[in-house]
Amino acid sequence: MKGHKFPKDKPVLVTCGLPYVNGPCHIAHLRTYVPADIFVRLLRKLGQEVVFVCGSDTHGTPITVKAEEEGVTPGEIVARYHKHFLDIFPRLGIIFDNYGSTDDPLNHRRTQQIVRALMENGYVYAKTLRLPYCPTCKRFLPDRYLRGTCPYCGAQARGDECDQGCGRYLEPGELIDPRCSICGTKPEMRETRHYFLRLTAFEDFLRGYLKQMDGTDIARNYALQWVEKGLQDWNITRNLDWGVKFPGEEGLVLYVWVDAPIGYISSTEEWAQRTGGDWEYFWKGPGYLIHFIGGDIVYHHCLFWPAMLKGAGYDVPYAVVASGMVRVEGKIFSKSRGYVIWVEEDYLDNGLDPDALRYYVASYTGHTRDLDFSWATYGEKVNKELVGTSATSSTGPSSSPTGTTAPCRTARWNPRSGPRSKRRSRP
Ligand code: 2FM
Ligand code: ZN
Repeated sequence: MKGHKFPKDKPVLVTCGLPYVNGPCHIAHLRTYVPADIFVRLLRKLGQEVVFVCGSDTHGTPITVKAEEEGVTPGEIVARYHKHFLDIFPRLGIIFDNYGSTDDPLNHRRTQQIVRALMENGYVYAKTLRLPYCPTCKRFLPDRYLRGTCPYCGAQARGDECDQGCGRYLEPGELIDPRCSICGTKPEMRETRHYFLRLTAFEDFLRGYLKQMDGTDIARNYALQWVEKGLQDWNITRNLDWGVKFPGEEGLVLYVWVDAPIGYISSTEEWAQRTGGDWEYFWKGPGYLIHFIGGDIVYHHCLFWPAMLKGAGYDVPYAVVASGMVRVEGKIFSKSRGYVIWVEEDYLDNGLDPDALRYYVASYTGHTRDLDFSWATYGEKVNKELVGTSATSSTGPSSSPTGTTAPCRTARWNPRSGPRSKRRSRP
């Protein structure tokens, strides 16, 4: 935060990026949640009133692809991992005032209200597109159902994101040489009617807004660069059944990145219903609004999100705090390549101390630089900085979240198996 504007005069709403509930909690999640929790504790120590909310991100192809892989319904996947996240945050000392779900009726209602407001204000229009359709799977191929070549950097990418290259958000139809990610078939192009948010109408607003937005430079500067390069209108619908229905159009749901950030609002509404608090104080009033997010979702939070809020008559965030990237043993974090630490299976289930992991995440380096998790460095930091004794005298770690930390043995790790020899398969 810029020192002179540090929010201390009015209550603050702090949010954390909502985890997709298609798999368990991992080290990259903690890159956001631990610093946000520490920030909230700090504000409270300063006497500040804070509401801290999060929730499960339950829609879109991250969930439906996982469900198809397992032969279960999306609802079953959501129920399983929603419970996992509800359970694991308190075990890590991360205590939200509300942990909601984007599949909650409150969020369906709030999303449709916002989309209707955007339509009434002239920011949404329909357009017929030619989009990839798999003749084998007999369906359109949104987002993660499609793989191909990124038109910007040439890396292998998925339909809505260059996940292994430049990290850019991609519009439907942009991928070069696309293939169905389920069966490998080359798709044919078929016409289908979609809806767009007129993002181009917000260029001037976003330029002015971003210049004064507080938070990390990573968020502000990347977003400003994208605005300067020129924006495109944003396709906000998908040919899927699972999700929030587009108002008045059977067979289309909203793109997950529409209803996901609206989950911040509905989680605040849920908090307000439970406590008698006032959610509008933060979303349509004087309260400060601060988002903690991973560095890979700046585009969504600094361009799409303020445009949606502004266009529907809500307040925009005071600050966006985006973190640096995560590495595991020096390699870029990747679940598919095994460069991942699963918080429950690899860490907590081994009896390791949650506070020691919080300490590692918070103290390893500055918030906007890469966080590298290595078991050797972890052991050294815990033993030298927290315990003040050498690793060789180890008897095993403490498991108390608030107790003293005992000396710690470091685990042997390899990218396929993690620190333990027995593993379940992971998304
Ligand atoms: O990238 C992700 O993991 C998304 N689930 C983050 C959503 S943040 C917010 F917009 F909901
Ligand atoms: Zn790319």
